[in-house]
Amino acid sequence: MKYMAVVVGALETNCYLAYCPETREAAIVDPGADHGRIFAAVAELELKPTMILNTHGHVDHIGANREMKNKYRVPLRIHKADAPMLTHVASIELSLLLGAEESPPADSYLKEGEAVAIGRHRLTVIHTPGHSPGSVSLFADSGSFLLSGDTLFFGGIGRTDLPGGSYKEIEHSITTKLLTLPDDLLVLPGHGPHTTIGQEKESNPFLS
Ligand SMILES: [Fe+2]
Repeated sequence: MKYMAVVVGALETNCYLAYCPETREAAIVDPGADHGRIFAAVAELELKPTMILNTHGHVDHIGANREMKNKYRVPLRIHKADAPMLTHVASIELSLLLGAEESPPADSYLKEGEAVAIGRHRLTVIHTPGHSPGSVSLFADSGSFLLSGDTLFFGGIGRTDLPGGSYKEIEHSITTKLLTLPDDLLVLPGHGPHTTIGQEKESNPFLS
């Protein structure tokens, strides 16, 4: 599995194109805004999107779902616990500020442990609640990378003060489900620079 990051929107969300280098099939993960730049990246890499995935339902990760769906006509998937956020954007002011439109509803739900096929490769769903009830991380096959959404960042963890957030849960998710992955695993967060599991174990001030 390969990937390309496209930084989108006022909150600089990392939208990832996770793709199979053999078939060029791709998942568009967290198209938060700037749909034209995502279209351009898909075209530049000659990708064939087969699905839209949201690591969680916050507006800066879902804001361009509608444009992706209109253009590529592919299923939109999110964990069930965050699915209501797609069509009931919590902060209208924030979504106006970010120029985000309401998302279409989910076509199906991402489930814990599910292996989502993208061409000849797989993304395994790890339910990591805490930043939101339905936050997920996506583990690419052959241990190539982890898309950690807004759960684990370089030197930080996701905020837990938004509706449905829980510090206890995010701590539990990270320590039991992410820090148990290989130390050299590349971590690609929903915002900011990439890191590794080992690096965060060693120096993340929120996890010591
Ligand atoms: Fe978020």
